[in-house]
Amino acid sequence: MSFSPDSTQQSPALQHSPAALTQPDAVFSNLVSPNISADTLRTQTPIKLGILASGSGSNFEAVAQAIKDGQLSAQIQVLIYNNPDAYAAVRAAKWGVPAVLLNHREYKSREDLDRQIVQTLQEYDVELVVMAGWMRLVTSVFIDAFPDKIINIHPSLLPSFKGSRAVEQALAEGVKIAGCTVHLVCLEMDSGSILMQAAVPVLPDDTPETLHARIQVQEHRILPLAISFAGSLLEHRPSSKPI
Ligand code: GRF
Repeated sequence: MSFSPDSTQQSPALQHSPAALTQPDAVFSNLVSPNISADTLRTQTPIKLGILASGSGSNFEAVAQAIKDGQLSAQIQVLIYNNPDAYAAVRAAKWGVPAVLLNHREYKSREDLDRQIVQTLQEYDVELVVMAGWMRLVTSVFIDAFPDKIINIHPSLLPSFKGSRAVEQALAEGVKIAGCTVHLVCLEMDSGSILMQAAVPVLPDDTPETLHARIQVQEHRILPLAISFAGSLLEHRPSSKPI
């Protein structure tokens, strides 16, 4: 197709270029991939979720809110947290979600912790596991119990900037576009198949805190969408039960 100066054939980004100069978020908010609406993705039966969090739990809250607002057909069966100080547990209490502390310091090995996590998720009849700020590496004990049923949210446009200091790495490299990714979890950290991404601009005076805050706005938007996406894939599988 040849380029046409006709504005009706321009990309949304070009049509919105005045806003791009003053409000870059207005343009970047369209940059979600795949760009599918919650309506397209809504599953018939609510997906039974288990959420794993180590920290603040703002993503836990975004999922709970999306369910309450009718944007996501799901039910949070349980929150598992590993850090006794995790604010996510306070949020779970507020939302009436059972919260189970599994402190990694009390387990001899990663496998032992994962066995207890799997048992807890099965006790709560969880179909899809959501790692939302879960700061532990997983073992095959966990992956094999929930094959292709564990997703994670990460504050970078993977495969760039894996690991716990993704936002700092993006700033240090001087990238102009950052973002977040929801992906399937596999044994290798931050490396499973990508389900959904959203982009944000990096502004000249950004600090790790300001950039992370901008990324988190998008995390809260795409995590419920990606859960619907993953749930709709589960619905078309012969069995939606963990093995
Ligand atoms: C998010 O930025 C997520 O991408 C990363 O950890 C952070 C968790 O934030 N894995 P919160 O605890 O949900 O507020």
